Amino acid sequence: MDIEQLRNQVARIETEVQSLLKGVRSLDDVRRVRSRFLGKKGALGKMMGTIRDYTPDLRGQVGQALNTANKAVTALFDEAARRISSSEAAAEATKASAFDPTLPGVRPPLGNLHPVTIVQWKIEHVFQRLGFTVEAGPDMESDYYNFEALNIPADHPARDMQDTFWLTNGLLLRTHTSPVQVRSMEKFGPPIRCIVPGRCFRYETTDASHENTFHQCEGLMIDRNISIANLIAVMKLLLREVFEREVKIRLRPGYFPFVEPGFELDMSCLICDGRGCATCKKSGWLEILPCGMVHPNVLRHGGIDPHEYTGFAFGLGLTRLAMMKYGIHDIRVMNSGDLRALVPPCRLTGPTVWDSEMGRQAC
Ligand code: FA5
Repeated sequence: MDIEQLRNQVARIETEVQSLLKGVRSLDDVRRVRSRFLGKKGALGKMMGTIRDYTPDLRGQVGQALNTANKAVTALFDEAARRISSSEAAAEATKASAFDPTLPGVRPPLGNLHPVTIVQWKIEHVFQRLGFTVEAGPDMESDYYNFEALNIPADHPARDMQDTFWLTNGLLLRTHTSPVQVRSMEKFGPPIRCIVPGRCFRYETTDASHENTFHQCEGLMIDRNISIANLIAVMKLLLREVFEREVKIRLRPGYFPFVEPGFELDMSCLICDGRGCATCKKSGWLEILPCGMVHPNVLRHGGIDPHEYTGFAFGLGLTRLAMMKYGIHDIRVMNSGDLRALVPPCRLTGPTVWDSEMGRQAC
C-alpha cells in the first residue's frame, strides 16, 4: 500500500474506534475493543510491523503517520475509560445515598418455643407465686428412688404399670418424676413445697396419647395439717391458670402405692369438647393429674415423721396438658422434630378445623 492508502486506512481505523467507543458501557468493553486495534496483534500494531517493507525514504513518513494515529487512538481509549470510571463511581454514590440507615431493619423469624416448654414455664410461674421451688432429678435413676422408696418393692405388681428401659449399669430411665419426692425430702426436710418438671420414659406401645418419652411435672407439699382440701384447691388453681378459664374436672379413686388415698383427676377432653375422640379414647375425659396424700411409708423413706407431717403429691402429665392447651390431637407430633409443631400456638377458642397431617387444630 502506498503512503496515501496508508493514511486513508489509518483515518478509517480512527473513525471505527470512535464509533465503537460510543457503544461501550464498561471498562471490560473498553479493554476488549482496545485489544482489537492496539498491541502487537491489533489492527494498528500489525500496520506498525509493515514499516520495514517500505523503501528507506518512505519509512520515516509511514512511521510518523502510524505513531500519530497510535497516539490519537490511545487517547480515545483513555478518554472512554475515564468516562466510564467516573459514571460507575457516580452510580455507586447514588446507590449509597439511597440507603437510609435510619429505617427500621427487617426482623428475621426467630422460631417459637416448644409447646411443652411454654406450658412448663407457665406452671413454674404459677407455683413460684405460691412459694414452691422448682427442682430437678436425674433421668437415669436408681431402682430405689424410682420404685422402692415409693413403696413399690421388687415383687410388687404395681411395677407392671410402669415398664421401663433398663441400662447396663444397673440404673433405669425413670418412669415418672415421683423419684424426686424422696430425693427432695432427704435434701430439704419438712416443710417442703416443690414442683419437678422433667422427662420420663416408658417401654410401651405408642398411640395418640402415649409416647415412650414424655414430660411430667411432679408436685409435692409437706407440712403440718396438709389435707385433701389443700390438694384440690391447688389442682383447681393450676388448671384455671394454665387454661385461663374454668375447666371441667372429675376426681375418681386411683391406685398408686405411694399415696393414700390416691385419686385420678381427669379433665374434659378439649380436643373433642368431651364428645369422644381418639385422643381421649372415646371417653370424653383425659387422665391428666393423678394425685393423693403422700403415703406414710414414703415419708419415712424420706426421713420425715408421718405422725407429725402430712402432705400431698401429684404427677401432672405435662405433654398431655400441652396437647390440650394447644389443640394437638396426637402426642407423637411432640417429639417428631417437625418444626410446624413450633408455629405460634393456636387458641382453643378458634374454629375446630383439623390439619390431619399435623394433628393440630387450625386457628
Ligand atoms: C404416675 O406416673 C405417678 N407418678 C403420678 C403420681 C404422682 C400419682 C404423685 C400420685 C402422686 P401415671 O402413670 O398415671 O402416674 O402418669 C401420670 C401422668 O403422666 C398421666 O396422667 C399422663 O398424663 C402422663 N403419662 C403417663 N404415661 C404416659 C405416656 N406413655 N405418654 C404420655 N403421657 C403419659
